[in-house]
Amino acid sequence: MTDPTPETLVVADTRARLGRAVTPVVVGADHVLDAFVIALAVGGHVLLEGVPGTAKTLVADAAARALGARFRRVQFTPDMLPSDLTGTMTMRDGELAFRPGPVFTNVLLADEINRTPPKTQSALLEAMGEGQVTVDGTTRRLAAPFLVVATQNPIEYEGTYPLPEAQLDRFLVKVEVGYPPAEVERSMLDLRRSGLAPTALGEVRPIVAAEAAGETVGAVADLTTALRAEVDATTLTDEVADYLLAIVRTTRNLPAVEVGASPRAAVHLMAASRAAARLAGRAYVSPDDVVGVAPMVLRHRLVLRPEAELERFRPDDAVAAAIAAVPVPR
Ligand SMILES: Nc1ncnc2c1ncn2[C@@H]1O[C@H](COP(=O)(O)OP(=O)(O)OP(=O)(O)O)[C@@H](O)[C@H]1O
Ligand SMILES: [Mg+2]
Repeated sequence: MTDPTPETLVVADTRARLGRAVTPVVVGADHVLDAFVIALAVGGHVLLEGVPGTAKTLVADAAARALGARFRRVQFTPDMLPSDLTGTMTMRDGELAFRPGPVFTNVLLADEINRTPPKTQSALLEAMGEGQVTVDGTTRRLAAPFLVVATQNPIEYEGTYPLPEAQLDRFLVKVEVGYPPAEVERSMLDLRRSGLAPTALGEVRPIVAAEAAGETVGAVADLTTALRAEVDATTLTDEVADYLLAIVRTTRNLPAVEVGASPRAAVHLMAASRAAARLAGRAYVSPDDVVGVAPMVLRHRLVLRPEAELERFRPDDAVAAAIAAVPVPR
């Protein structure tokens, strides 16, 4: 295979600059930042799963600041209504006016998405899928870019509403945020703090040059357009397309799997593989790019058989089995 010299390095460069911008505040966030850039570049959304206190909120906040993007955080609660997200019509000076909800932003941190009932979850998922919301019969477009970073706690406790598979399928990637290695956790203690609060958060500077805060949002839209253009221009050979599709289709035939990955998953895997190639500074997709992103693209879409779950077989094991079953193109 030829190795065309990448004419641009927008994706790789954005990722590197993002990493540098957040270093004063967060350690060990490489996987999350990779996912963030991949999702931004292809217009997908990120699901973060991890126990409390693993910097899920902090990374999303810091990365949004570094992009110079508008950022909103919504704590999902059992009593939340769809209109708390999308907005409502209110009377203002005797006239009915639209008061936009927090969904009108660039980066929306949907914290603890599984603590809200299905009706509110689907309002968010509709916004994610359509890039628009309908309030009182009027359809309103969301901002561009619009990136949802949703978090959920892996431990299901009383009063949670696990996202149905159909809704999980809409997330481009699911990143499992675990405990950092000892030396990384140790370096976390050296970050600047005042009491409990990380003090450097306010110092995270946008990686896109902008004069006024108002222009910053235009800059992030321009950056997103450039990221998208670079990803779209990434070469994907027939062999690699066959390869990634074979992995997706194999998940449907594994004995441990009840419901395998959807055709939508194949599209997501292709787009994420292209973005991963660019992250590595390459203009073509290699089988390794596919293998690298397959776990985070596929793990949340597989429903395992109860017997397999009892044997502690995990979705990642199923993804690994599917990868192992498909010959790598040469
Ligand atoms: N990797 C890390 N780098 C820097 N600080 C960290 C890291 N992990 C945890 N912390 C510290 O822990 C605090 C809590 O992090 P954060 O609120 O982002 O966790 P969370 O994963 O969102 O938790 P929850 O699930 O409870 O919302 C941070 O403010 C920071 O001080
Ligand atoms: Mg949090």
